[in-house]
Amino acid sequence: MKVFKTKKELKMYLSEFRSENATFGFVPTMGALHRGHLSLLHASSKNNDLTIASIFVNPTQFNKREDLDNYPRTLKHDLMLLEKNLCDVVFIPSTDEIYTNGVSSQHFDFDGLENEMEGKYREGHFNGVGTIVKKLFEIVLPTNAYFGEKDFQQLQIIRKLVKKSTLKVNVISCATHRETNGLAMSSRNSRLTSEERDAASIIFQILCAVKNKIGKIPLKAIDQWVSEQFEKHPLFKLEYFTIANEETLKKISEISPQKNYRAFIAVYAREVRLIDTISLNS
Ligand code: PAF
Repeated sequence: MKVFKTKKELKMYLSEFRSENATFGFVPTMGALHRGHLSLLHASSKNNDLTIASIFVNPTQFNKREDLDNYPRTLKHDLMLLEKNLCDVVFIPSTDEIYTNGVSSQHFDFDGLENEMEGKYREGHFNGVGTIVKKLFEIVLPTNAYFGEKDFQQLQIIRKLVKKSTLKVNVISCATHRETNGLAMSSRNSRLTSEERDAASIIFQILCAVKNKIGKIPLKAIDQWVSEQFEKHPLFKLEYFTIANEETLKKISEISPQKNYRAFIAVYAREVRLIDTISLNS
C-alpha cells in the first residue's frame, strides 16, 4: 500500500494508472476506521482497478471546537486496517496541504437539503463537507466514490454536489454496519462508555419500532411516542426525530404510496452525538 501526504505526489502516482484507463474507487474518511469503513473498501476493491482511501479530519465540517479536538485519531491502527483490507493507496494530507488559502468553507446551495436535520443543528456543517469532498474528488478524480448510508443526508448532499458541480464520479452508497446490539457503527462510538454502548441499542430498536408503527398510527403519534422513550432516559437525550422524504429530506405530514421515506434520529450520550436512520419502505 502506497501512502502519500502531498497532492503532487499522489496525483503523479495516479496519473500512471489513469493513462492505462484504470478505474479508481475512492473511500474518503476521517480515520478512526471501523467495519463500516472496511465494507466500503471491500465494495471498492471488488469493482475498481485501484482503491484509494483518504484520512483527513476536516476542520471546516465541525461546528464545535471541542468536537474537532475530541474526534478520535488512530492513524497507526487505521493504516494497518487499510493495508489488510485491500486498500492500494492512502492519502493523509495535513490541513495546510488541503487548505492552502486558509481554513474556510466554500458556500454551497444544495437546493435546501442542507437546511434540514443535521443542517439545523450543525451550522455550516454541509458547507464544510461539500468543500472537502469537492477538493478530494478534484485531486483523486475517482471513477466511483463510496459512502455509508448511516450519514444519509450527507450522501444525498454529495450526490447533489456531484450533479451541480458536474463532477464525473459515481456516488455509491453502502448499507449501515451495526454492532450486534444494533448500534450503527461510527467513529464516535469509541467515545462511549461500555454502559452507554450497551444502552445505545435503544436507538435502532426505536427506529425498528417506528418502521412497524408506520401506516398503523398517525405520524404525530409516532413523533410523540419517540419523544416519550427519551424523556426520562438516564443516558440519552433526543436532539431530533424526523420522518422525511428520502429525496427532499423534508419532514412529511402524510404518507403517499409512491414516495420513499426514512426515519432519522440524533441523540446525545453526554457530549457524544449519535445519528442513525432507517428506510421505511423496504
Ligand atoms: O463521513 C465522513 O467521514 C466525512 O464527512 C467525509 C465524507 C470523509 C468528509 O470529511
